[in-house]
Order: sequence, then structure tokens, then C-alpha cells
Amino acid sequence: MASVFTELKTPVTGAYQQPTGLFINNEFVEGVDKKTFEVINPTTEEVICSVHEATEKDVDVAVAAARKAFEGPWKQVTPGQRAGYMFKLAELVEKNLEVLAAVESLDNGKSITLAKGDVGAVAACIRYYAGWADKIEGSTVDIAPDMFHYIKKEPIGVCGQIIPWNFPLLMLAWKIGPALATGNTIVMKTAEQTPLSALVLAQLVKEAGFPPGVLNIISGFGKTAGAALSAHMDVDKIAFTGSTVVGRAIMKAAAASNLKKVTLELGGKSPNIVFNDADIEQAISWVNFGIYYNHGQCCCAGTRIYVQEDIYDKFVEAFKKRATANKVGDPFHHETFQGPQVSQLQYDRIMGYIQSGKEDGATVEVGGERHGDKGYFIQPTIFSNVTSDMKIMKEEIFGPVCAIAKFSTEEEAIKLGNETMYGLAAALHTNDVNRAIRVSNALRAGTVWVNCYNMLHHQLPFGGYKASGIGRELGREALNNYLETKSVAIRLGGALF
Ligand code: NAI
Ligand code: MG
Repeated sequence: MASVFTELKTPVTGAYQQPTGLFINNEFVEGVDKKTFEVINPTTEEVICSVHEATEKDVDVAVAAARKAFEGPWKQVTPGQRAGYMFKLAELVEKNLEVLAAVESLDNGKSITLAKGDVGAVAACIRYYAGWADKIEGSTVDIAPDMFHYIKKEPIGVCGQIIPWNFPLLMLAWKIGPALATGNTIVMKTAEQTPLSALVLAQLVKEAGFPPGVLNIISGFGKTAGAALSAHMDVDKIAFTGSTVVGRAIMKAAAASNLKKVTLELGGKSPNIVFNDADIEQAISWVNFGIYYNHGQCCCAGTRIYVQEDIYDKFVEAFKKRATANKVGDPFHHETFQGPQVSQLQYDRIMGYIQSGKEDGATVEVGGERHGDKGYFIQPTIFSNVTSDMKIMKEEIFGPVCAIAKFSTEEEAIKLGNETMYGLAAALHTNDVNRAIRVSNALRAGTVWVNCYNMLHHQLPFGGYKASGIGRELGREALNNYLETKSVAIRLGGALF
């Protein structure tokens, strides 16, 4: 039998045991077809190891395990006990922060400092939802004296969850948190570019005491394992984060199979608007963070920067200096802000967008080229003189590339801000409180940041207007994605009509 563990090293942890199997029923196993695929380190372009690959058959095995757990042991567990397992998991994540962050950096390429921040947020998110587990309440409704009505909240059942590679552990936490708190079981498919950290976390799921089959984690590809999960007749709900194209495919698969419930967190092309009454220094820092954080690989990245005309030249000059000062390089160096893009494919896509910006006649203010000669590194890039019809102003680039344009009036800023099929996030910078509220109200986006950017928090709902998705993650609101509502009407006797 092939091994389901391999010894790996990271520059900061030394040797550790990396699970490589599919995590089903609290055990690491090989796939039915015994397939494996290679995992790449984006910093060196070298193979880290191989992991076992889930095919359609393994999805069946994992779904059956999740169904059995849902109908059996997980139903017997009280909400308070559920909370207990989740609190324990949060504690174990914190205890293992160093190794989880190091594996995240190794596989995804994000800087170790950011990866540690992610792991801290994972623990906080799981702990927050643990707190909800025993606070899911229904209600009673008075309708008639001879009747008793109550409304009850119940778990949906077996949930398929498909996550992307930009925040491998954090996206897992956002999805398992509300699903487990409400009493569901899960088959989670990680992204093929970054399967490693979730498998390390899987060991902690077992250690925390969750019954087998409650949380299954499988590595595999979208077109096979992902598609099988979204079309599965025994999956009651599918939650997805990723591209708009795949979001549409998942909705179709859900519709064509058993009409499973669907929530989608998709792309964005978020505007970041700087008014002339803003604190310019502060605005530049937040604009820089808004686009270059996580190498631009954020669904909510502030990629369209609109600056009021009278401060435009000054802003562009100062922003160029700020962007050029971002430390790009080895993710394991604690001062690094920007590591490599996640894969050759993403690198090529982003370079393709940079090429199209150049060909369309936009001005490269800084960057626009590869950084270094090894790894998928791209220089922080700023395009100016970008018009609304250019591809780089319209399409999600998902890399360290932003487009700047001018506006003159508040009305025009709102119009430009909303000039997109997306509606995930938006931001504005101003010192005028009336303007802050007026413009926030007018922007069609699920999150609006004023005088800041990327200030997400597990207590605040996050998700998209328009083509950016369906439903909200995080906060109390996300619990509803994982609950059915049952109305019970009891007749108390007496004459019939
Ligand atoms: P993707 O949408 O193909 O991948 C995301 C997840 O969906 C992965 O786990 C993948 O295996 C799975 N998947 C792919 N095809 C599937 C299918 N037919 N059925 C079910 N699951 C499927 O995204 P990809 O190709 O990695 O990135 C492409 C673009 O998507 C990026 O350039 C970016 O614009 C956007 N994206 C957005 C993200 C977000 O946070 N909203 C995250 C990742 C990518
Ligand atoms: Mg990788």
C-alpha cells in the first residue's frame, strides 16, 4: 500500500509528517483508483510531494461517510458538545500555528507573516462559530387557540464545500465554521494548487474528537471531484468560492441534479475611490494594501482606483513610490510582503492582462514585468490612463496589477464605481462624513470600506451583489446558509371547523 504520509521540511519548521491521503472517516486513505498528483512550490517551481487524488468514486465514498455520520453519531451529539469539539479544534489550530502557517507559505507562496495572520483568523473564526452552536433557536407563533405552532431550525444535511487556493486554510474555516455549528456534515474539496495545509489541519479534526465522517477533506481537481460533488444526488447543499465561470457551472449542476441549495462567493473588480478631501498619505497606504495584499489574489482586491482630478498627479507620484517599496521575494523572509503568484497558469494569465493593458495604450507607471528569474513572481504593477472599455478595467486579473483613472465629481465617482458586473466590495477615502455615508449608500457592493481596505472580520457578513455571488459568508447571517426552517402546526383538538 502506498504511503499516506511523507516527511517534508519547511525553512522554518524543520522536518514534519505531511499527510497526503484523502481524509475520510477520520483516516487518511488512498483513492479508489490510486491516483496521485504533484504539488508545486510556487517560489521554486519545484515539486514538493504528491498527494492522493479524489475521483468521482472517492466523492461517493466521502459523501456516504458524511451521510452516515449525519444520520448517526452527529445527530446524537448535543449542540453544547458540538461547540466543545469546535472550541477544541480552534485551540489545536492555535497550538499548531507555526507548522500550519509554514505549510501554507510553502504550498501557496504567501509570506509567512501573512500566513500566520491567516491561521490566527482561522482559529478565531472556528471559535466564533463554536459560540453559535448552542444558540440556534426557533420560535413559537400564536395563530389560533386550538393550535400550537412552532418554527424549528434544522441542519440541511450533507454539505459539499469547494474552496480556492488564495486562502487555503481561511476559506476552509469560513465554510466549516457555520456548517458544523448548525449540525451538518461536510465533504470539503480543496484546491488542486494548495492541498497541503488542509491535510495538516485534518489531523487536528480527529484529535479534537469529532466523530468519523463529520468533516471529510479530499484533494482533487475541479472538473472531476468538484463536478461530482456539485452534481451528487446525496449532497444537500453546495458552497463554493472561486471563479464566476465555475460558479455558474456549479449552479447548473445543482439545478440539473437534486436542486441542492447553493451559495457562491465569486469574483470582483472592486473600486477604490479617493476624494480630494481625503488624508492622502493614509489613502495611499490603504490603496496599496487594497491591491497588493496577498499578491493581488483576493476576490475583494481594490483593482479599479479612481482619484479626484485635482489630486491625481500628486497621488500617482506618491503611490508609485509606495508600490515600489513593497518587499517582493522569499515568502519565508519575515519582511516579505509579496511572494510568488500561486501557479504557472495564474502567472501566465496575469502577464496576459499586463500585455493587453500595454497593447490597449494604458501607461505602465511601475512594474509590468516578471520579478527575478525563478518562481512565479510579478512586479507590483500600476497602469494609469486606463479607460472604462479596456480589459484591465473590466476583468478580474487576480494579481498585483491595478488600473487608475481620474474623476471630477462625486456623482461621476459613484457612476464609475458601479460600472461593473461585479459587486463584492468597494472603498472610498474622504474626511467628509456626509459624503462617506452618501457614497457608501450609492455603491452596489456587499462590503464598503471607508478610509481603510480589506478590513474583513468573522463577525461581519461578506459576499456579493450582482455577479459576485449568492448569499453571505461570515457573521450570524452565514448560519442561515446551513439551516432548513421547519414550521410545525399541532392541532390541539376541538371541533373540526
Ligand atoms: P476555479 O474557480 O477554477 O477554482 C476554484 C475551485 O473550484 C477549485 O477548488 C477548483 O478545483 C474548483 N473547480 C474548478 N472547476 C470546477 C467545476 N467544474 N466544478 C466544481 N468545482 C470546480 O478558479 P481558478 O482556475 O483556480 O482561478 C481562475 C480565476 O478565478 C482567478 O484568476 C480569479 O479571477 C478567480 N478566483 C476567484 C477566487 C475568489 O476568491 N473569489 C479564488 C480563486 C480564483
Ligand atoms: Mg502549490
